Amino acid sequence: MNPDFTVRNTSRVYVARAEELLPQRLCGEQVFVVTDEVVEALYPDLLPHYPHICIPCGEQHKTLTTVESIHRRLLALGADRKSFLLAVGGGIVTDTAGFAASTYMRGIRFGFLSTTLLGQVDASVGGKNGVNVDGYKNMAGTFTQPEFVVCDTTMLRTLPEREFRAGLAEVVKSAIIADPNLFERLEQTSFTQLRSDEALLEQVVRAAVGVKVAIVERDEREAGERRLLNLGHTLAHAIEKCSHAMNHGEAVAVGMRLVADCAVRGAWLSAAERNRICGLLTRLGFVLESPVGLDRLLAEVGKDKKSDGESIHLIVPHAIGHCEVHTLEKEALQTLFKQDK
Ligand SMILES: NC(=O)c1ccc[n+]([C@@H]2O[C@H](COP(=O)([O-])OP(=O)(O)OC[C@H]3O[C@@H](n4cnc5c(N)ncnc54)[C@H](O)[C@@H]3O)[C@@H](O)[C@H]2O)c1
Ligand SMILES: [Zn+2]
Repeated sequence: MNPDFTVRNTSRVYVARAEELLPQRLCGEQVFVVTDEVVEALYPDLLPHYPHICIPCGEQHKTLTTVESIHRRLLALGADRKSFLLAVGGGIVTDTAGFAASTYMRGIRFGFLSTTLLGQVDASVGGKNGVNVDGYKNMAGTFTQPEFVVCDTTMLRTLPEREFRAGLAEVVKSAIIADPNLFERLEQTSFTQLRSDEALLEQVVRAAVGVKVAIVERDEREAGERRLLNLGHTLAHAIEKCSHAMNHGEAVAVGMRLVADCAVRGAWLSAAERNRICGLLTRLGFVLESPVGLDRLLAEVGKDKKSDGESIHLIVPHAIGHCEVHTLEKEALQTLFKQDK
């Protein structure tokens, strides 16, 4: 089967069924599966012929300790430099296992079966992997492309509604960054339809992956354009730091709303397009009010590790399907967000 996308000539991305793809891709390899407790329990019959290494769930376990535990298990199970690591799970599993694979014996081959919507449209694609250090997100990691990524949308049926919606925030993000047709298609559908219409979901995932792949192709190491993928994220990270009321995708939706408001104030975005963005997010079930006050959010933004010295890269929508990176001093950022409408 031909891949839907190829990233940097090395990583093949398939939006397809796992049972069709994996036997082809893993033929003849000494495979070790890394997954998490929830996925292992939901899919007990998946890949029974290979040893499974099960890691605990949750962002608090995306750590060097978990990476070390994977290394130890690989060693105990006899994995060598020719072994292949297959990570099966959401972004936490693929980020952690990708890092474990790219450092075990200075790097072994690895691939992903991505099982969350967020993982499929964002985390599993693009070659960034890593773990948190002392609560700071993704502080240790590498840029190493997985040999393949399989996005099997049928596995999203078991995803809790809230996790599914979180992934949709990243889909909307991709549409605003670079795909006005995807945005329109989302406007014409509903949350329930996306949950239940397999063909539609597959098309939507493929389109969102396409946006990410195109950007990573041009800027793998986030020297410029890849920053666009952080639309809504500067504020979302601040919301996540200050409150546990929202998960990542929910916070990204609020972040996109806040930045769209700014873009209208700065006369970069029309009010009509801003209303379409908010309208779509609301229809998909997102709450667009921040659980944290703006003052606290802006104070937190200054501490983001992606801020470059005194200046912040803010991703600003100029139209649906076109965003730009604005480099702002912290004071300018404060002014922009705090101007009266
Ligand atoms: N590397 C990147 O470029 C990149 C990009 C975006 C996000 N990320 C990272 O991704 C992580 C978040 O990923 P996530 O949202 O997938 O979280 P996750 O991996 O924690 O998955 C969410 C929950 O869903 C469960 N789950 C997974 N597949 C399931 C399925 N098919 N059915 C039912 N439950 C299932 C998991 O066990 C977990 O409890 C964050 O750590 C973030 O930093 C990385
Ligand atoms: Zn995100």
